[in-house]
Amino acid sequence: MDQRLERIQLPALRERVVSAQQAASWITDGMAIGLSGFTRAGDAKAVPNALVERGEKAPFRIDVYSGASLGCGIDGRFAQSGIVRKRVPYQSDSLMRASINSGEVQFVDHHLSQTAEWVRGGVTGPLDFAIIEALGISEDGLLIPTTSVGNSMVFAHHADQLIIEINTAQPMELEGIHDCYEPEALGMRQPIPLVSPRDRIGTKGIPIDPAKVKGIVWNDQPDSPSPIEPPDADTNIMAGHLLDFLRGEVQAGRLSEKLPPIQSGVGSVANAVLHGLIDSEFEGLELYSEVLQDAVFDLLDSGKASFASASAITLSADYMERIYRNFSHYRDRLVLRPQEISNHPEIIRRLGLLSINTALEFDMYGNVNSTHVAGTKMMNGIGGSGDFGRNAQLAIFVTKSTAKNGRISCVVPFASHIDHTEHDVDVLVTEYGFADIRNLAPRERAEQIIANCVHPDYRPQLQDYFNRAMAQGGHTPHILSEALSWHELYTREGTMIKKAQ
Ligand code: COA
Repeated sequence: MDQRLERIQLPALRERVVSAQQAASWITDGMAIGLSGFTRAGDAKAVPNALVERGEKAPFRIDVYSGASLGCGIDGRFAQSGIVRKRVPYQSDSLMRASINSGEVQFVDHHLSQTAEWVRGGVTGPLDFAIIEALGISEDGLLIPTTSVGNSMVFAHHADQLIIEINTAQPMELEGIHDCYEPEALGMRQPIPLVSPRDRIGTKGIPIDPAKVKGIVWNDQPDSPSPIEPPDADTNIMAGHLLDFLRGEVQAGRLSEKLPPIQSGVGSVANAVLHGLIDSEFEGLELYSEVLQDAVFDLLDSGKASFASASAITLSADYMERIYRNFSHYRDRLVLRPQEISNHPEIIRRLGLLSINTALEFDMYGNVNSTHVAGTKMMNGIGGSGDFGRNAQLAIFVTKSTAKNGRISCVVPFASHIDHTEHDVDVLVTEYGFADIRNLAPRERAEQIIANCVHPDYRPQLQDYFNRAMAQGGHTPHILSEALSWHELYTREGTMIKKAQ
């Protein structure tokens, strides 16, 4: 017997093994599919690749829903082949980004906690297929996910049919780290019984209806590594500012020495800032996040963190090799949940999270842009930053003060797109310092932000704008004809630095 069949413990399902090409042939023009995968982890790989190959020969278009970004170049191949009409709710691939920005792909940038509600409530329309990567299927009919849970549960429950990709390259030690819980429909919902990051409230896998399983496909491709950059001098300084802020909160008695559970966002900057906690005095840290990047494993190794809950594990190449070689060392300190639970506003508020996410830019009143370059071009998407920012005890946004070798100021008069309004933002951090804007009126906020966060090359021109805006009056003073002039200047001249008059 093919040894791999042991991973399918429901004997009746063993007869449903098909090739990726055959499974892909069931997906036809106009369908909508839900794919497993969250920040390049646990994505279905074989069937999406087979779909692309078919689409390159005979064009068709489908709508693609996922947990978050897909790895292994799948979003890029989707974009190149032109088979995707609509993409929801997050992506981070440069080719997909180009197709979104050219208008070829209709991208719906959605809070990651909320897509499950849309699927359950019928807003997305019916999903024809869910294609979910799994370690295997247990004898009690549970689909055991791999390195992410994402939206897999809601897709498996609500799609018309199910294709399962069993990935033999994923370590079997992953079994047991998942906690799969789906809330009741709206209107009948009970409180979600999770009061600590360590709580387990669901099942170790996703209960499936065997009758809905149309096919099972083998897959032996590992997740693709994350491309994050290691910490650098600036991010180390930013981590220092964050620690200073936290120490001040402890001294003021607003936080205890055991910090609240921490959420840390995607990307190099958030990873590096989280890494800074290793050399701090804070102990016994717990993470309640959506994605666990490299720094979380360093915190676990150093003994600084004792537990981490998320929806996915996304590691750079070196970490992936090291962590999965020795995964049994970590598994009792980890849990992976559906993204509607990892990012659920009710739980984020209850746990009083300390939330750290990265901004592309923010303005002098504290509005944050996480998604749009110069107000128009989509970068990745809002991801979970809004789920956490709006509901955390402390919504902290970090960014380097400049981008593109100093030609862009990441602190501007008016954010060119606003994902997190001034009402949702508590603390802003750059390598020049932090601005604690809680309980401050707009004019007070601007003073703090200009004094503490702006790069010195841009500080005089932002102060000058603020002075002239204040002279015109208003609760939130602006000169509307000039508010976006820094972005216009960059588009025209390749720098936001204004020439002296
Ligand atoms: N204008 C234009 N480009 C900017 C910019 C600005 N104000 N600020 C940064 N950039 C560019 C950088 O130059 C870099 O470009 P490159 O890829 O060509 O080198 C790119 O944006 C990424 O910036 P980087 O400094 O490397 O940050 P990062 O890897 O930490 O990513 C975000 C930052 C904002 C793109 C990323 O965190 C994100 O997509 N966030 C939204 C989702 C989110 O926050 N989820 C959190 C819940 S997990």
